[in-house]
Amino acid sequence: MRLTVIGTGYLGAVHAACMAEIGHDVLGVDVDAAKIADLSAGRPPFYEPGFEDLLARSLASGRLRFTTDLREAAAHGEVHFICVGTPQQAGSQAADLRYVDAVVDGLAPHLSAPCLVVGKSTVPVGTTVRLTSRIARLAPPGVRAEVAWNPEFLREGFAVDDTLRPDRIVTGVTSTEADETLRRVYAPMLAADTPYIRTDPNTAELVKVAANSFLATKISFINAMAEVCDAAEADVVTLADALGHDTRIGRQFLNAGLGFGGGCLPKDIRAFAARAQELGAGPAVAFLDQVDEINQRQRSRTVLLARRMLGGDLTDARVTVLGATFKPNSDDVRDSPALAVAAELHRQGAQVRVHDPEGAAKASLAHPELWCGEDLLTACQGAELVLHLTEWSHYREVDPDKLARVVRTPRLIDGRNALPHDEWRAAGWTVKALGRPAPSREERRSAAPAVEALRAVIASPATGPE
Ligand code: UDX
Repeated sequence: MRLTVIGTGYLGAVHAACMAEIGHDVLGVDVDAAKIADLSAGRPPFYEPGFEDLLARSLASGRLRFTTDLREAAAHGEVHFICVGTPQQAGSQAADLRYVDAVVDGLAPHLSAPCLVVGKSTVPVGTTVRLTSRIARLAPPGVRAEVAWNPEFLREGFAVDDTLRPDRIVTGVTSTEADETLRRVYAPMLAADTPYIRTDPNTAELVKVAANSFLATKISFINAMAEVCDAAEADVVTLADALGHDTRIGRQFLNAGLGFGGGCLPKDIRAFAARAQELGAGPAVAFLDQVDEINQRQRSRTVLLARRMLGGDLTDARVTVLGATFKPNSDDVRDSPALAVAAELHRQGAQVRVHDPEGAAKASLAHPELWCGEDLLTACQGAELVLHLTEWSHYREVDPDKLARVVRTPRLIDGRNALPHDEWRAAGWTVKALGRPAPSREERRSAAPAVEALRAVIASPATGPE
């Protein structure tokens, strides 16, 4: 089938290449000429495992091309996928739909044959209905373009696999023709028995924000338990393991630590709360404000813990942050909890060095005030405190003995509860993590001021990063 994929960010570029991989003739479209030049030359504009090979294969097959021209897209596509960003509006919690609207406005006047426009971006419920009348108004007389919604659930770091082997396909359609078209697009996945849920557009739009809200809630739930564990001298990791054995709960997304970030979860729960408010259903999802607040609080708690471990003052303290991206296996630094903590430590006077295996360049662009690099030993040279804030597998393989010889004081905060603490302690490191008691009475006594400080943050949640 002839498909266009409009918007070639993390979602669109991967979707376009995967659609070519399963045999479609795909045209990727973006307003960013530099990005289109990179993609056309087989250079991924972002780091995503497996994507570079897939892109090379798709380009070589002749089934994937890129353009900046929406007119060309209008002529090419039987199905047009909208994959542009829906960021948070400046000064509001709501989603900014200007890029989605711009695609429709740019595409509709050039359509010359019936087609299906399929949104994949995460949008407020009601968007399909709104875009349907917008297209009808802008398309040439007699040209019928139907709008459907087909949310994307891919995770960065697993984007290729999630797109080629999704857990489920959800389509919000208003006609049998649209349903049949989408079944043809996804025929190889359906042949592999992927669950296919056909519903109305409003429900399809809601499935996506509900899924992300649930995931965010699960993370904030375990981080709330970490706060209680700090108050009670209990261990949140053992707690999560024990909860996870209950198959109704499951262990996934119960990793306590610095909390969630990235281009999706934070802005999606805020946009959902804002949209529910508009619909008069605000109280039903008011808990999402708390989910957000608990999440932000883990950043303040980590900064506070760092300050206490350094004797109460960060001025000129040499601090190293391991990890800049919002999660491992991605170079995405959008709303990265690790970078937010690094920036706050810097603001409070610390000399901060940030290490990341893939995200250092993007981190430097976002935070020019921070030193960001890809060499671990240089980043850790002379450090008085190391904070492990993004759980790249790379860091689990670090030799704590070797690192102890490079730093000035072997002190570690494990903000992701992902390092082998016993090994680090055996190598002479003082280790502290949110929601975890110190293992010995002696260490507990020396950690007491830090634990007190963490209790204070829970007691006055509105304080924000100190
Ligand atoms: C998310 C959804 O998972 C995906 O389905 C949707 O399409 C887009 O948003 P993504 O943002 O790529 O995907 O990352 P995800 O793996 O969900 O992690 C989100 C954040 O939560 C990361 O910052 C991660 O570090 C954090 N997280 C995740 C935790 O803090 N604890 C956990 O247990 C799991």
